[in-house]
Amino acid sequence: MKHIRNFCIIAHIDHGKSTLADRLLDYTGTVTEREKKEQLLDSMDLERERGITIKSHAIQMEYTYKGEHYVLNLIDTPGHVDFSYEVSRSIAACEGALLIVDAAQSIQAQTISNLYLALENDLEIIPVLNKVDLPSANPEEVTDDIVDLLGCKPEDVIHASGKTGFGVDNILAAIIEKVPAPKGNPDEPLQALIFDSVYNPFRGVETYFRVLNGTIKKGQNIKFIATGKTYFADEIGTLKLKQFPRQEIKAGDVGYVITGIKEAKEVKVGDTLTDAKNPTTNVIEGFEDVKPMVFAGIYPVDTEDYEELRNSMEKLQLNDASLVFTPESSAALGFGFRCGFLGMLHMEIIQERLEREFDMTVITTVPNVSYHAFTRKHPEVPVIVNNPTDLPDPSGLDRVEEPYIKATIITKADFVGNVMSLCIEKRGMITNQTYLTTERVEMTFDMPLAEIVFDFYDRLKTVSKGYASFDYHPIGMKTSKLVRVDILLNSQPVDALSALIHADNAHNIGKKMCEKLKELIPRQQFDIPIQAAIGAKIISRETIKALRKDVTAKCYGGDISRKRKLLEKQKKGKKRMRQVGNVEIPQQAFMAVLKLN
Ligand code: GTP
Repeated sequence: MKHIRNFCIIAHIDHGKSTLADRLLDYTGTVTEREKKEQLLDSMDLERERGITIKSHAIQMEYTYKGEHYVLNLIDTPGHVDFSYEVSRSIAACEGALLIVDAAQSIQAQTISNLYLALENDLEIIPVLNKVDLPSANPEEVTDDIVDLLGCKPEDVIHASGKTGFGVDNILAAIIEKVPAPKGNPDEPLQALIFDSVYNPFRGVETYFRVLNGTIKKGQNIKFIATGKTYFADEIGTLKLKQFPRQEIKAGDVGYVITGIKEAKEVKVGDTLTDAKNPTTNVIEGFEDVKPMVFAGIYPVDTEDYEELRNSMEKLQLNDASLVFTPESSAALGFGFRCGFLGMLHMEIIQERLEREFDMTVITTVPNVSYHAFTRKHPEVPVIVNNPTDLPDPSGLDRVEEPYIKATIITKADFVGNVMSLCIEKRGMITNQTYLTTERVEMTFDMPLAEIVFDFYDRLKTVSKGYASFDYHPIGMKTSKLVRVDILLNSQPVDALSALIHADNAHNIGKKMCEKLKELIPRQQFDIPIQAAIGAKIISRETIKALRKDVTAKCYGGDISRKRKLLEKQKKGKKRMRQVGNVEIPQQAFMAVLKLN
């Protein structure tokens, strides 16, 4: 155990985590040139070219340092806020972390939020100034920033380049010298932390764990404490580029186990894995059942594809436990599903997979967060509202609560005013503002999650000319003054376009919604009135004018190839249209409320 080191890499997006990880594998000879080539030849997948570590959730390296042989386990952390719970569990499986900071970009929001997670878990932090080869690198200044942040000495900051390989030897030396060896007793009852799992269509779920105490053996009956289920360990092993089966894995080490589990949701990240016969009494702290944060309706474009959509969603759920869905019906869209996602990125991934892997064409409705509504009759029992149309009748409502987040934003001093105005517009309350340097400022806000779902990223980028980074984590529910804004097309309410909006903004947003929909819904043979309403009260109105005959005439005249192109374009557009009453609504219109500015 003295010769094991468990570490992860934390970094802001694009600061070079994958590239540096690849370098560590090269340097330690974990991946041979031939394997690297094979890997590339194996698939034309662009992701693979970007970094072979993407798919390796825990990779083991061997390295001889000062005549001693060491095993180094690199545990990967996903790089997006949607998956921050997984990041926290990966961090909990390590004793140390490389904190990578881009020498040109310096510290960004994700650097800080990941650093806090690492510090909460008492990890030894090894600061690495990466990309020193860049002409735009600013090593002195960025080193000062790191020193200020960590309270370390300038000479503790390792200068490196994932591109040239410079400094990789120093990083390996620091991992061995500074990261504490794991503690734990191999003879105690098995106690292992599950930090990741991967669905393999042939072998079932592969579960990744870090053994804290005890020893896991091939053929052992193992128990997952949170789910209460027991399985037979068909295969255990360690992961290099390939899996290496082993007979046993002891306290301090990292590995995988395959038990023939066929559904991703049976394995929960953060759960404790133990021996079925002699279970540990120490459940590992920090386990959470991940809850979806963002909900949206997914409907087949063609109503006849409903059953096929259900099949596809069920298959997706087998390998993505964080996807939840329940059937729902919409007056406008017919039968579909209300789906819960970890965040907006997760939602996009699911939509994309449905289209690519299952060849489904779907309409996704405007995403919303999960609200808690309390009626006067039962003011203590929340009604969970995952779809705005489920909001209880306002006349009987006591209050509505919505999820809040703590947002961390780092930007240049010049943009503080802009960022502040944006966050206030988004109902944010500033809780802290710190000058990291004279040029760079860290701001934290308490903000409703719903405002992040609505066009926040794009707006932040615009108001800061790209010089702002952003990260967040949930902080609980708060009471808000929310009302439901409904949209009527041709005087018919379209339930899939309803949204819960803060009362103070409702008129403004209702008006903008109407304007945006007028832009997005194609003109048809008749006038289409668009109205926004709160309850029975119409708050805004626009009209899509009917097509004039001569406009079509012009389009369909012209030469034949142009005409064909037009037709093809129309056909493509049709694929993502939904007929609601006698109005055709394109996919973008369902997302209109997200893009109002
Ligand atoms: P995500 O996986 O998206 O979070 O990014 P990452 O942090 O893993 O960064 P990645 O390794 O993909 O590198 C981001 C970009 O920076 C890529 O275009 C790399 O080629 C480039 N890059 C990484 N390391 C270096 C370096 O040391 N020097 C230079 N010049 N470029 C680098």
